[in-house]
Amino acid sequence: MITKIYNIKQIITYDKVKNDVICEEPHNILIKDDLIHSINYSETDIIADIEIDAEDNILTPGFIDSHTHLIFSSNRSNDFSKRISGQTYLDIAKSGGGIKSSIKNLRESTKEELVNKCDKEIKHFIKNGTTTIEAKSGYGLTIKDEIKSLEVIKELNLLSDIDIVPTFMGAHDFPSNIKNKESYIDLICNEMIPEISNLNLAEFCDVFCEKGYFNCDQTREIALAANSSGLLMKLHADEFEDSGAAYLAGEINAISADHLMKSNKVGIENMAKNNVIATLLPGTTLFLGMNTYANGRSMIDIGCNIAIASDYNPGSSTIYSMPLIMALASLYCGITIKESFIAATFNAAKAINRSNSIGLLNEGYKADILVWDINNLNEIPYWFNSDRIKSVLKNGKLIFKNNIH
Ligand code: NIG
Ligand code: FE
Repeated sequence: MITKIYNIKQIITYDKVKNDVICEEPHNILIKDDLIHSINYSETDIIADIEIDAEDNILTPGFIDSHTHLIFSSNRSNDFSKRISGQTYLDIAKSGGGIKSSIKNLRESTKEELVNKCDKEIKHFIKNGTTTIEAKSGYGLTIKDEIKSLEVIKELNLLSDIDIVPTFMGAHDFPSNIKNKESYIDLICNEMIPEISNLNLAEFCDVFCEKGYFNCDQTREIALAANSSGLLMKLHADEFEDSGAAYLAGEINAISADHLMKSNKVGIENMAKNNVIATLLPGTTLFLGMNTYANGRSMIDIGCNIAIASDYNPGSSTIYSMPLIMALASLYCGITIKESFIAATFNAAKAINRSNSIGLLNEGYKADILVWDINNLNEIPYWFNSDRIKSVLKNGKLIFKNNIH
């Protein structure tokens, strides 16, 4: 199947060779099946099966949301209202709300109910220009319910137009009915990880490495088990307090460490030294009503590659607009608009081990393309409602068209 896109105002993409964001004005893009075959081809004798008129608009790669907790059952607007009355996220968690209440709901939901609910949510992500989503388990915390969550991701991949990348996060919290914390670490390391890896249900393993949740020693143990089962590590690091998690991410060679709101400089240096992607989640800081945004500027200056993501989840961020996340990252984390664009595309692909196939408009890359009614890059975070996206292509196929335009 050959698809031709013509009447393009400009393409905006990160360019690996130039190590910069480029704006070019090709006459056309030729897509063969799901891949970009050529940009600005000159042969006149190619007959396309489908022709798409870009109507003199700008094209970018689709966004990659490299950190979400998509697989949950009920919303937690009650927690939101408690926070507005003055309770903190950690206060609510201690009194039985928070992650624990989402666990109860997920365990009561069937796989079919979860698939139907999450499939609807994915449509919201698509409308906002996201063409690949990383999704974590972590509201089950029993072998059965963690596998159920990861099987939901597998089904969503078959059902949905976009790709959902699975991460096992049994270490999201400690279940309430366990003998002791060590017995749950044993369950994760000796039963959950081997079983999930055997079933091929996850690519990554994530741990909430934070005071009150998993400490550095427990995280290290889980990382060892994950690595020996072929899962790459990610960490929720230093979200509320400096737990030394950024440093640990470097030590265990995590692919990314995320949040980093309270990380210290030595920790970030160790991440840079070990090529750990620093993922900023500024939507969470906003949604929690805090002002402790992660210092993206200093992380870049220290030498880290920065990704940005939504952290979509029922308790600390219900945002699925990557343009809004770009705006927050540039307004509050000290990074430029160019840097936030790279962070939402190419570096986000690195954070999910896919930088050879997505995140760029480049020959040989997946034809995941957004068509924008804008005049330049700055307008992406400027119009952060995402409503300037006219259409979305995934794997070369038109999957969303904004009827307002
Ligand atoms: O990334 N911090 C841990 N996990 C999520 C929140 C999950 C929840 O509150 O349900 C986060 O902020
Ligand atoms: Fe998270």
